[in-house]
Amino acid sequence: MKDFKRYLITAALPYANGPIHIGHLAGCYLPADIYVRYLRAQKRDVKFVGGSDEHGVPITIRAMKENTTPQAIVDKYHAIIKESMQQMGISFDIYSRTSNQIHHQTSQDFFLNLYNKGLFEEKESEQYYDEKAKVFLADRYIIGTCPVCGNPNAYGDQCERCGSSLSPEMLINPRSALSDATPVKKKTKHWYFPLQNYESFLKQWILEEHKEWKNNVYGQCKSWLDNGLQSRAMTRDSSWGIQVPLPDAEGKVLYVWFDAPIGYISATKELLDNWKDYWQQQDTKLIHFIGKDNIVFHCIIFPAMLKAHGDFVLPENVPANEFLNIEGEKVSTSRNWAVWVDEYVKDFPGCEDVLRYVLCSNAPETKDNDFTWKDFQDKNNSELASIFGNFVNRTFVLMHKLCNGKVPKLHEDVMDDLDRNLIEEIKNSKVKIQNSIEEFKFREALFEVIDLSRKGNKYMQEKEPWKKTVNSQQSTVNSEEVEHNQKLIDNCLHLCLQLCANLAILINPFLPFTAKKMLHMMKVVDKMLDWENAGSIKLLSVGYSLRAPEILFRKIEDKEIENQIQKLKSGNPESLKGIEETTSNSKMQEAKNSASEAGGKPQIQYDDFAKLDLRVGKILSAEKVEKADKLLKLEIDLGFEKRTIVSGIALHFKPEDIVGKQVVVVANLAPRKMRGIESNGMILMAENAAGKLIFVNPDEDTDAGSVVS
Ligand code: 2FM
Ligand code: ZN
Repeated sequence: MKDFKRYLITAALPYANGPIHIGHLAGCYLPADIYVRYLRAQKRDVKFVGGSDEHGVPITIRAMKENTTPQAIVDKYHAIIKESMQQMGISFDIYSRTSNQIHHQTSQDFFLNLYNKGLFEEKESEQYYDEKAKVFLADRYIIGTCPVCGNPNAYGDQCERCGSSLSPEMLINPRSALSDATPVKKKTKHWYFPLQNYESFLKQWILEEHKEWKNNVYGQCKSWLDNGLQSRAMTRDSSWGIQVPLPDAEGKVLYVWFDAPIGYISATKELLDNWKDYWQQQDTKLIHFIGKDNIVFHCIIFPAMLKAHGDFVLPENVPANEFLNIEGEKVSTSRNWAVWVDEYVKDFPGCEDVLRYVLCSNAPETKDNDFTWKDFQDKNNSELASIFGNFVNRTFVLMHKLCNGKVPKLHEDVMDDLDRNLIEEIKNSKVKIQNSIEEFKFREALFEVIDLSRKGNKYMQEKEPWKKTVNSQQSTVNSEEVEHNQKLIDNCLHLCLQLCANLAILINPFLPFTAKKMLHMMKVVDKMLDWENAGSIKLLSVGYSLRAPEILFRKIEDKEIENQIQKLKSGNPESLKGIEETTSNSKMQEAKNSASEAGGKPQIQYDDFAKLDLRVGKILSAEKVEKADKLLKLEIDLGFEKRTIVSGIALHFKPEDIVGKQVVVVANLAPRKMRGIESNGMILMAENAAGKLIFVNPDEDTDAGSVVS
């Protein structure tokens, strides 16, 4: 295994166009923070960098909607996000921002480095333009009627109602989201980065050398690489962003996904004079913590940029989490279906660790997961308070009652198997927790910590030290028995106290506020939390007097939970939190790699289904549609007739590869024109988690026209 001298940990830069919600925390900030706190406790050389992503169209849109400037928007939200991060204990060494001068300079230098090597392709293309607002429009900012379900507010890249992948030309009555003007096509020049030239490097580096990456990350990368990479524009037409540092580039800025990851480098520069050690020495372990909608940018595009530049290390791992749903539904900022961190800390002061606990123990590490308020209450009341908190509390109360508030001795002569087992459990837990953290399995690690406190409770229950006290007035009691019993009490509480000290160390990466409170109760300094101390039963000195216990976790009442559910359901956005701008969906769509989510649609009756005329068809011919890079024109044999269908699958299939395939067709879909061609039906496709399209077809050859029901 490679020997790393230093660690550089990054967590995705959140867009400064709104506050952060708990999905952000669960996705990358909390796992990154746990990992960093663990590394720090191991006294490794580690830096944790982050900051706000302050460029990109969503910020300009928000500014227009709020009738203010993009700078005012980012100033406001950068401050709110930074404060939320601090309040939740996300312990960045620096939380910077991409509007800083140092970042502009670093990004421009990076761009010029690639430009001077002749690595960009300069291309003119036609793009949609809003003549009223005088801006080019990304697909997301063109709205119109969905050709599939009739939703009048479908986006130019996707219909949020029926989930169909769209392109602006597929929309009926397209209009600009900014001004309502009808978009027109206009020529514009941009600089493209030819990702296809890095395909073989990426295949070797990821698919061969990083088989250990998480399945969700590896799978998405593989799917991208199998489908083939294409040039991507690294510049945009906009007045907000980092100027393209070329003489003929007025009104052009760097693509936000070009500059944002460079933000990690700029933040490190801002933090350290010796920033190059962290970015340019091969014995640095660079790890990017992200959410799944950022995978392609961090595993494919940014590494290709770093490789092209040549001076920088590549990430050693990119542990991405899936999404966190709330009460069974996807987070939607426009419906205010979210739990905002700045509101949580106000509603539950002093309960930051409870949220950290719930988000980690239920983290979407391998699949999307659900946050519910009921589960939040249960996890607090029945796990944190009743198991962990209860063990610590009982230990301290009994130590005050039965041992004069001091750490009692351990009497070897009366130790039994229960004592020895507990000591063994403490040692084993440390190893298990350590292994899980190093594999980014934080849920598993946290479970182990709680389980160790559960074992502490069981041990105490079996030992029953409270029953060992004897009333000295009792004539039948002899002094030998009193002494023996006191030894048993001492041993039990000695070990329970040492276990408390261990629990403080082991819980510290996850629940740092709780670990701090425990240190206070034990009257010990931070240094005790060094990881190397875990596993020892010599952490608290005999005879040392300890403080009275503090309640670590208060109970959370039904009323508090009801209020939160009510707040969520009322959907009443406080201020403008609720504008849907950079949904995870839109980012996934932008990555052209969106995962289809299960079950997002309302229930239908059989009659609704029966209205569909689904037929098996056979593709007779396929050709690209001129000036529409997503569309293919297909001739389909339906047995009883031949049909022309225009389908948005051109980015996924070469025409010649699909001729002869059997498909399932919605045969009675009303005809509509796309790019001047009348489309008569729709073919069904499945989309896997990595965004790959797969034909839905019968599992053996069937006559064209066969009914599917
Ligand atoms: O998805 C997002 O919220 C982006 N702002 C993440 C950027 S991460 C990095 F590239 F800076
Ligand atoms: Zn639709």
